[in-house]
Amino acid sequence: MADIKTVDDADFGGKRVLVRVDFNAPVDDAGTVTDDTRLRAALPTIEKLVADGAKVILTSHRGRPAGEGFEEAFSLGPIARRLQELLGRDIVLTRDLVGPEVAEVVDAMADGDIVLLENIRFDKREKKNDPAFARALADLADAYVNDAFGTAHRAHASTAGVAALLPAYAGYLMEREVATLTGMLDEPKRPFVAILGGSKVSDKIKVIDALLDKADTLIIGGGMCFTFLLAQGKAVGASLKEEDWVERAAAMIEKARERGVTLLLPTDVVAADAFSNDARTAIVSVDEIPADMMGLDIGPETAAAYAQAIGEAASVFWNGPMGVFEMPSFEAGTRTVAEAVAANEAADTIIGGGDSVAAVNKFDLADAMTFISTGGGASMELVQGEALPGVEALRA
Ligand code: 3PG
Repeated sequence: MADIKTVDDADFGGKRVLVRVDFNAPVDDAGTVTDDTRLRAALPTIEKLVADGAKVILTSHRGRPAGEGFEEAFSLGPIARRLQELLGRDIVLTRDLVGPEVAEVVDAMADGDIVLLENIRFDKREKKNDPAFARALADLADAYVNDAFGTAHRAHASTAGVAALLPAYAGYLMEREVATLTGMLDEPKRPFVAILGGSKVSDKIKVIDALLDKADTLIIGGGMCFTFLLAQGKAVGASLKEEDWVERAAAMIEKARERGVTLLLPTDVVAADAFSNDARTAIVSVDEIPADMMGLDIGPETAAAYAQAIGEAASVFWNGPMGVFEMPSFEAGTRTVAEAVAANEAADTIIGGGDSVAAVNKFDLADAMTFISTGGGASMELVQGEALPGVEALRA
């Protein structure tokens, strides 16, 4: 980040500042934001700009609208209401994204005022990183701040294009996310234990590969463990499997051996006769998964072994649940892992976005973690060693 300016490098008093945030937060049918973590995470940057006396123009996407104009289901209305509560001040939500009407609203702003543009993806030019759209966004402001770490892996007009057209700065959240995740990769405290779960090997193969270059121990759980078990020559019954990825999984097992990384795979699983919380279940060895049953969680012996390795770690990175934790019958493995991470108070514990964050929140353990990333896809791409367009665009 040394070559990236941050909001601390300028006084934004009197300036119009376009701030890209990631307010892509879940909203229920009643229009209530059900998890405001991403909104709270952006508050320090917004508050610094307001304290400077900037005119703060916030922009975010929410979901994946068609890009053909306003759609109520993807409106930032619920976000604006929650942000207003969190900041304790009025927020104007514009209907347009760029153009004369927005310019008029911005012209009328006093220092310290906050405007939120409607969902930036209502215009399809956003995702295309259209130069004219980026220019129209830039025309609204004197400076640009990117605090949307969760969207940093997208090269869109509001995350990348506009950065080249204005003096550009990283917000506090962006700075902290990148510093924490790159710090973990560059100089992890050892032993460094990485825990990866989730359903598909194909989604995680690059992360597995990258972490085998960094970690001392790699723990595998979730649906993807069955493809690894196949690679070990085991029969996995009706469990989720990706036959096309067995060879790659075998190559990862071999890579771990060559590099001296301890690779932990399940030795037992919770098998079920249906993908249902009410299914008939049995705890079985991975050598004895019945042909008509599917593994939906790691078993207790596996969870205990994982917890022990986590307890001995000096740093932990976790992405992806160990089982179908949304169903109480299959939450125990993920819970045991979450509790083990939380209990290791001496270690740096970093949760890498997505479902593992939902799990940590479900078990009410968020406060016990050192750092919880607000970026699912973005944190995975960073760990994979890929350049994030939203970060690269900020480089001087
Ligand atoms: C996310 O929730 O991962 C980010 O907001 C990015 O959303 P996207 O995958 O729709 O680009």
